[in-house]
Amino acid sequence: MPDILTQIDKLKKKKNAVILAHYYCPGDVQALADYVGDSFYLAKIAKSVDADIIVFAGVRFMGESAKILNPDKKVLMPDMDADCPMAHMASAEKIRSVREQYPDTAVVCYINSTAELKCLSDVCVTSANAGKIVKALPNKHIFFIPDENLGRYVAASAPDKEFIFNDGYCPIHADFDPDELKKAKEEHPNAVVCSHPESRSCILESSDYIGSTSGIINYVTASDAEEFIICTEVGIDYELTVKNPEKRFYYVGSKCVCRDMKLNTPESILDVLRTEKNEIIISDEIREKALRPLERMLELAQ
Ligand code: 13P
Ligand code: SF4
Repeated sequence: MPDILTQIDKLKKKKNAVILAHYYCPGDVQALADYVGDSFYLAKIAKSVDADIIVFAGVRFMGESAKILNPDKKVLMPDMDADCPMAHMASAEKIRSVREQYPDTAVVCYINSTAELKCLSDVCVTSANAGKIVKALPNKHIFFIPDENLGRYVAASAPDKEFIFNDGYCPIHADFDPDELKKAKEEHPNAVVCSHPESRSCILESSDYIGSTSGIINYVTASDAEEFIICTEVGIDYELTVKNPEKRFYYVGSKCVCRDMKLNTPESILDVLRTEKNEIIISDEIREKALRPLERMLELAQ
């Protein structure tokens, strides 16, 4: 029996398939993927890639966005249970009531959200482009869903806007403990602190650099520093180490693992390539409505 990578490669060629993987996937998945990146990069690739099948090693909202942007392609998830809890942490009722209260509101939807929430939104953003997009909007009121922490971080750089926040959060990033960060800084006094903006403000205030996963990787790679304390999901360690084998990385606490992202494995990828199960299906009605905010993001982020 040929090894798993050979089998994946053979099936990819036979079926004209590509594999996309997020930086939070396990290292062996990132190593075998055709495209690896942050949410924004992967959304752009999903729109432009020339293939019949996209295997999306990530979480469900990523597969949904790929399907919405590229409806003629078959989008397969290695594991259907890989879902982002934050993607569900906003409600149609709250959106309706904010729109009633502030009729000029732009509902700005972090891409980490269900297709149904995207349908009710004016524009999508990712952590790599949220600041730029919010500033480009003509609206005074911004209802930022679902992530309160990213919303507050973006609001700080857009003082002319009035933000309404939603109480969603990423359970991994919201769990970073300022005392543990303080301890890590004491243990590694020369380390530069890099944090993802899904973290709470008490973490961001103590950080030297704040950015998306690709932002952190680029910042670290360009830096002359030798040690870094990283406040984001530990899967980023794979790319950080590939690009910077001589640098050292420390993670805060022991809980910075997204269980959902870790459901993507070489075995589950081989399985969906073989069976073509776990296909993302989206109704035409939802697709058409959810496409508008995603396309607006791609336009405004340019
Ligand atoms: P980015 O890929 O935009 O950095 O977001 C991180 C994340 O939580 C993806 O689920
Ligand atoms: Fe969702 Fe957080 Fe996991 Fe990203 S790291 S997929 S935001 S739970």
